[in-house]
Amino acid sequence: MSCHKKSYITTPIYYVNDIAHIGHAYTTIIADTLARYSRLSGLDTFFLTGTDEHGQKIEEAAKTRNKSTKAYADEISDTFRNLWDDFDISYDKFIRTTDDEHIKGVQKAFSTMYANGDIYKDTYKGHYCISCETFFPLTQLVDDEFCPECGKSTSVVEEDSYFFKLSNYQDRLLQYYEDHPNFILPKSKRNEVIRFVEGGLMDLSITRTSFDWGVKLPEEMNEPKHVMYVWLDALMNYITALGYGTDDAKMDYWSARVQLIGKDILRFHAIYWPAFLMSLGLPLPTHIAAHGWWTRDGEKMSKSKGNVVNPKEVADAYGLDNFRYFMLREVPFGGDGDFSQKALIDRINSDLGNDLGNLLNRVIGMSGKYFEGRVDSKDVAKYYQAELDEVHASLEKLEPLLFDMQIHRYLEELWRPLTVANRAIDRYEPWNLMKNGKEDEAMALNGLISAILAKVSIMLYPVMPEVCTKISKALDFTIDNNSWENMAKGTDLLEPFVLTKIDPLFPRIEEPRLAQIEPIDKVVEKPKKEVKKSKEKSNDTEGIAFIGIDQFFQTSLKVGTVVEASEVPKSKKLLLLQVDIGEETPRQVVAGIKEWYSAEDMLNTQVCVVANLKPAKLMGIESQGMLLASKDKDGLCMIRPEKPKTAGTPIG
Ligand code: MSP
Repeated sequence: MSCHKKSYITTPIYYVNDIAHIGHAYTTIIADTLARYSRLSGLDTFFLTGTDEHGQKIEEAAKTRNKSTKAYADEISDTFRNLWDDFDISYDKFIRTTDDEHIKGVQKAFSTMYANGDIYKDTYKGHYCISCETFFPLTQLVDDEFCPECGKSTSVVEEDSYFFKLSNYQDRLLQYYEDHPNFILPKSKRNEVIRFVEGGLMDLSITRTSFDWGVKLPEEMNEPKHVMYVWLDALMNYITALGYGTDDAKMDYWSARVQLIGKDILRFHAIYWPAFLMSLGLPLPTHIAAHGWWTRDGEKMSKSKGNVVNPKEVADAYGLDNFRYFMLREVPFGGDGDFSQKALIDRINSDLGNDLGNLLNRVIGMSGKYFEGRVDSKDVAKYYQAELDEVHASLEKLEPLLFDMQIHRYLEELWRPLTVANRAIDRYEPWNLMKNGKEDEAMALNGLISAILAKVSIMLYPVMPEVCTKISKALDFTIDNNSWENMAKGTDLLEPFVLTKIDPLFPRIEEPRLAQIEPIDKVVEKPKKEVKKSKEKSNDTEGIAFIGIDQFFQTSLKVGTVVEASEVPKSKKLLLLQVDIGEETPRQVVAGIKEWYSAEDMLNTQVCVVANLKPAKLMGIESQGMLLASKDKDGLCMIRPEKPKTAGTPIG
């Protein structure tokens, strides 16, 4: 391999407050795909993953389970590592924030930022959400108490704290985003970040004194009560894993090529992290790529909601590579996706079975019947140059799509050569070629189909390593940097070979294989308190929580007409509406719909309003009702009366 260019790919490090679900598997599988591609293309690749083990959230999770924090962190960290090993994730290092080298590296980073004048001591007074491990000013809280991100109750914190001068970096960050338009991917997310930074950055509290499960400050600070804010500690993992602050052994891999994250942690990675790096005098990563969420029934899958899907169970039932393909193909990167077995089965039967598996069966059948398994490509260009050109044109488009994080389009484009191949068999009818004595043409067709399968399987390998290795064995070639260079990027065809018959790769799936996807709570013992709470909530009959009619009529639903609409200043999500529901004055409603509707779209339209909800404050503005809406993977739409109705007409 001639090229020694370095490529560093990272996943977020996962909290050890519970075990992995498919959201985590998604992040890791995308990163694994990029890392595998990177290696295949000859880059010297380092792929990092690991676990995030400090902070109040973990301390509390351990306490509810009556375990020591370290023992608990060890146990859950192992479940992540074991899952990735089961999934054959090709990580080069699994970092834990409780590792000694990491702790030393974080302390070194703190000292450096302090020496650079970016850290000062003051008192922090404000609200803290333990679940999100985030500070919020009062103006951002819902109802003056609840976290605007996860809705949980926040606690008031007043303590001595060291602060990082984030405010000093506002202009440099904005300049950086402007100079590096691909720093944050997808582009839509970049705009969100820019708007947030333009809104003004406050200095960041980076130490805590009210608990101690965290990295201590460097000794020279002489502050035994302080531990580092968990996000400062966690973000540093990306460089401490390379030896920052200890032996610097692998620091030549920095900066990273792609740092993969979910959209919920974009602010930390696109604002705090670059500011820390600037303060440390280190280069910034090439891409911060934020994917969307896996949801169930439209709600974000999360450990705390107990609606999560166990990735191991799905992979065992449907095949690991099939699961990987599905996740990457089904949802455009950056968008949300609802997990369903039906969609997974459709992808397996259709894309994988009909298009890919069937093509392999066809060439096995064809070469077996007419040529005792032999395949020779010498005449392919003579008879099928047009098809080859079409295939090569598609293959050429692939690589930029992958590192632009358009992975679903990468796979879509990769399927075009398969269409070319299937179409060629239908058009040239090998059985007729043989009947008419055109043996050379039939053999060349064999060579064409085999070459297409080989080229596709090289480029598909990073997504489906096991399946593609099987295809390469059947076609007697090896997937490596050479074949990538010559056959996938170049125009080489296969050397003459004898096809090895293999069993169908994607037997048709008729029925869902999991009677019901078990909530992951059944796999991991939940703290007793939570289990009780969820039982109390419903009279569960086969998953449906029934309520009585009286309970339903306790909700007052009314038709309303939007008589005024404007944007809530500084909010990405909120519109401020005045809605006439037949009362003396219109109701003021703050609705989180701005991503899908402008103020203009809403003006003079009718909506359905929940009219007897306790008023709540959103970004400091009182909301006196809620609008009915429905959201799926294509976005959100309002629920409205089919025909105009008088404002205030009851619904029910
Ligand atoms: N520990 C922090 C990350 C620190 S990185 C320096 C953290 N951990 S997490 O375990 O809560 O989440 C890790 C990753 O999983 C995030 O990228 C998050 O977006 C992703 N997912 C968690 N739930 C998810 C879904 N339901 N769907 C898709 N991915 C989501 O945040």
